[in-house]
Amino acid sequence: MKKNDQVVEILLNETEIADICRSLGKQISTDYANKPLILVGLLKGCIPFMSDLMRHINLPLEVYYMVVSSYHGGIRSSGDLTIKYDLERSVKDQNILLIEDVVDTGLTITAVIEMFKYRGATSVEVVTLLDKPGGRLVEYTPRYIGKKIPKKFVIGYGLDYQEKYRNLPYVGVLDPKVYEKE
Ligand code: IMP
Repeated sequence: MKKNDQVVEILLNETEIADICRSLGKQISTDYANKPLILVGLLKGCIPFMSDLMRHINLPLEVYYMVVSSYHGGIRSSGDLTIKYDLERSVKDQNILLIEDVVDTGLTITAVIEMFKYRGATSVEVVTLLDKPGGRLVEYTPRYIGKKIPKKFVIGYGLDYQEKYRNLPYVGVLDPKVYEKE
């Protein structure tokens, strides 16, 4: 597909994304064989990734979604989590696999993990398409990572800038001119 004019560099093209979904799906299918599994996608960024990934997980599973937001003020603890939409089932004694588009500071995902543990989940792991280890404000490494990327603002394949670009079939670096002029 032709590159969007606001994208300065493509970090993951459609073929690479498909390979990642296939390989992570295979690994997850092996790791969770004989364990009941619940996928929880964090909306809205997870949509394309979750949709592609789950078709490569060859296990009986349940699918749910959540909408959360966490404060990024720096001085606030990772416990500052607002749940805007919650999944409609108990997670007590369940194996939860959270699906994220990107882990940056780590504040959102660590707060969500804490919340699921508090609710009594047996295990809580994370699969993220992208990881920006350079952005961390808390120490955290996701269990499954599609690709590690530099600390740059990326869009596409679920990721947005002001709610736009989620529909691009690839992941690219947004031209800084787009947000610098605002
Ligand atoms: P964290 O709490 O900083 O790890 O934030 C993770 C969330 O911030 C992701 O789920 C995205 O919604 C958003 N985010 C972080 N980096 C980017 C990016 O480069 N592009 C778009 N959204 C991002």
